[in-house]
Amino acid sequence: MPLVNLKEILGAAAGEDWAAGSFSVSNMEMVLGVLQAAEETGSPVILQIAEVRLKHSPLELIGPLMVAAAENAGVPVAVHFDHGTTLAAVQTALDIGFTSVMIDGSRLPFEENAALTRKVKKMADDYGADTEAEIGSVGGSEDGSEHIAVNCTDPAQAVDFLKKTGVDALAVAIGNAHGNYKQAPQLRFDILESIGRQVSTPLVLHGGTGLTPGDFRRCIQNGVKKINIATATFDAVEEAVRRAFEAKAVAGYYDIQTAEVNGAYENALKHIEIFGCAGKADII
Ligand code: 13P
Repeated sequence: MPLVNLKEILGAAAGEDWAAGSFSVSNMEMVLGVLQAAEETGSPVILQIAEVRLKHSPLELIGPLMVAAAENAGVPVAVHFDHGTTLAAVQTALDIGFTSVMIDGSRLPFEENAALTRKVKKMADDYGADTEAEIGSVGGSEDGSEHIAVNCTDPAQAVDFLKKTGVDALAVAIGNAHGNYKQAPQLRFDILESIGRQVSTPLVLHGGTGLTPGDFRRCIQNGVKKINIATATFDAVEEAVRRAFEAKAVAGYYDIQTAEVNGAYENALKHIEIFGCAGKADII
């Protein structure tokens, strides 16, 4: 069962009242924590890492670890390359065995984004892997290093983009942003509903950290089948380590490692319950 394509998971969620969590990881402890939550709840899950994170977690090291963990998991796991910006890194991810790649051409003019996405789709197709792209711009940036303004997706462009690229999953911008929201976002459900009515391709919600369960449920009902969670994972891991120190529960390095796994586990568990994907492993 274990290592699967993104399409297998998102296809199972099509028309259903659940979405898969796509959890960003940057070390073995996060991988272990996310998979523990997925296995305990019988949930399909996606492990992902963004290109911008590779300065801390080199792809040649973390990538094989993610793939091996998926292959040994007791639930279906897709391994996804998030926010690819260079063809070289996308190529490396495919060589390592990632089962899907995102190319983020969202800041390029429409036709250039479509052309770049077609190129990556062809690369991924050659490996039997799936492709995600973004139309409009999600705010912030994956690691908080840039302040990209939100540029909501134009539904007509989303339709056109899918016709021109044939990607397997489409990230949309509806007022969502990466990182911790400074104030509660007002998501543009009108835009999401319009896109959801016009396309059958699974939609992806980036910037999951800090959205409410109600936001998630409404997105899921309108075609979102993959929800990205990054900052909440890193914050939960940091917080779990801090709590362990405060409780004087750190007698040595391995207690820190255990706290990291627990932090990633608790965060994944919370989101899996909200996303409604518990128990869905069996249908894949
Ligand atoms: P958050 O950091 O807001 O959870 O966003 C994650 C994300 O969209 C990764 O691509």
